[in-house]
Amino acid sequence: MIAIGCDHGGYELKKEIIQYLESKNLAYKDFGCDSTASVDYPVYGKAVAKAVASGECEKGILICGTGIGMSIVANKVPGVRCALCSDCFSAEATREHNDTNVMALGARVTGPGLAIKIVDIWLNTPFSGDERHIRRINMIEE
Ligand code: RB5
Repeated sequence: MIAIGCDHGGYELKKEIIQYLESKNLAYKDFGCDSTASVDYPVYGKAVAKAVASGECEKGILICGTGIGMSIVANKVPGVRCALCSDCFSAEATREHNDTNVMALGARVTGPGLAIKIVDIWLNTPFSGDERHIRRINMIEE
């Protein structure tokens, strides 16, 4: 199950990402928001991050205007490793090296075509499992 959430700045892109998830038959849970009316991104960022940290959802996708606010919020939740991705290389590397369980996108930064490609790569790239990466990840929450 993939948790997905956004603020008003990410609402339109979230709809496109949901279409992509549905086209791939991927199960998701939408934590809002539900329109382009102004809201506070921490509400939605925390809800998605907590769903991932609790194990309710395997991975999370967060979208705001820049992706920055959402990534800051998500990374405050213990057990969450969130990467703000605006290119394909980073999306792949952050799964292989950081085993990120949440990703953030900036809808005002990254166009929908590239954003969906980034999501596709991020969802489909496994963690490398290399000892050095496990060691470094463990050091994050020590
Ligand atoms: C909302 O205007 C904007 O601040 C938000 O979408 C996000 O970019 C915050 O980091």
